[in-house]
Amino acid sequence: MLIKKADSIKSSEITDKKFYLNRRFFLRGAALAASTVATGLLYRQFAVPSAEPPAEVEKIAGVQPSQSAGSNASEGLTPRGDITNYNNFYEFSTSKTSVAERARNFITRPWTISVEGLANKPRTFDLDGLLKVAPPEERIYRLRCVEGWSMVIPWIGFSLAKLLNEVEPLSSAKYVAFQTLYDPKRMRNQRSNDLKWPYVEGLRMDEALHPLTILATGLYGETLPPQNGAPVRLVVPWKYGFKSIKSIVKINLVADEPPATWNVAAPSEYGFYSNVNPKVAHPRWSQARERRIGEWGTRPTLPFNGYGEEVAHLYQGMDLRKYF
Ligand code: MTE
Repeated sequence: MLIKKADSIKSSEITDKKFYLNRRFFLRGAALAASTVATGLLYRQFAVPSAEPPAEVEKIAGVQPSQSAGSNASEGLTPRGDITNYNNFYEFSTSKTSVAERARNFITRPWTISVEGLANKPRTFDLDGLLKVAPPEERIYRLRCVEGWSMVIPWIGFSLAKLLNEVEPLSSAKYVAFQTLYDPKRMRNQRSNDLKWPYVEGLRMDEALHPLTILATGLYGETLPPQNGAPVRLVVPWKYGFKSIKSIVKINLVADEPPATWNVAAPSEYGFYSNVNPKVAHPRWSQARERRIGEWGTRPTLPFNGYGEEVAHLYQGMDLRKYF
């Protein structure tokens, strides 16, 4: 009979899986909270530029300056090197400063994205077809991560509404579900149990159709590097960063609220709505302030990440402490 030594027994084998997973999330969350406090300092210490050449990106031609409200150019853009070397993309690594290197060889052509479900004209787009849906626009948005840091990013993209209109949603479509590629050969950390794969997210239909909600295909005038969600990711600027799902392959129009990865992983900590709200603390840390990457000190977090004028009406009459 094989007798395992105590140190070779995984905690998953001696603890009920549910508690084991919760404990892992708790430990990770505790680490995140600690890192949030010192993000600026730690970031400066660890974000050593990689010796490897960066993934290839191409200039995007014909980018229109943003016509819509919500541009934050006056705040000062976060440097490109910070945006592309400090990432959350668990499919590649749970270490923010390792994602760029691990994702470097991620090939994103050919790529298809199917827009399906409750629609008159469901359709699969290849990348060129997707890029023809609307001219690329620059959108300078704040991104506020639930961990307590933020950036100002000059995205290139177009309103998701323009893509959804192409397939003609039925009136029974109340939500939009998004799914990231599932391919553990290319996204090596999908072999782990760090999250339930594939990464999924969801929006209510009115949130998805809001003009500020974009599909981003680039940043700083160039196509997205893999670590930022190439070739196409969602950006919802008034919500915590985890709603902005990367490397999307499927958009499904559905009748009921779809599952969302972090909400499934830890429902008491991450709600479906996840609107940036300085008044609703995460169970283990405050959301009242944030650290802008590249700056010292912290600044107050704004309700709806500063986009209240544009989006607060979507939530009129809702108790945002309950629907956090
Ligand atoms: N999408 C996928 N597929 N996998 C992820 O791990 N992380 C989310 C979001 N989208 C994530 C994802 C989180 S937690 C954040 S804060 C943002 O991506 C980070 O985007 P950035 O790395 O471009 O700043």
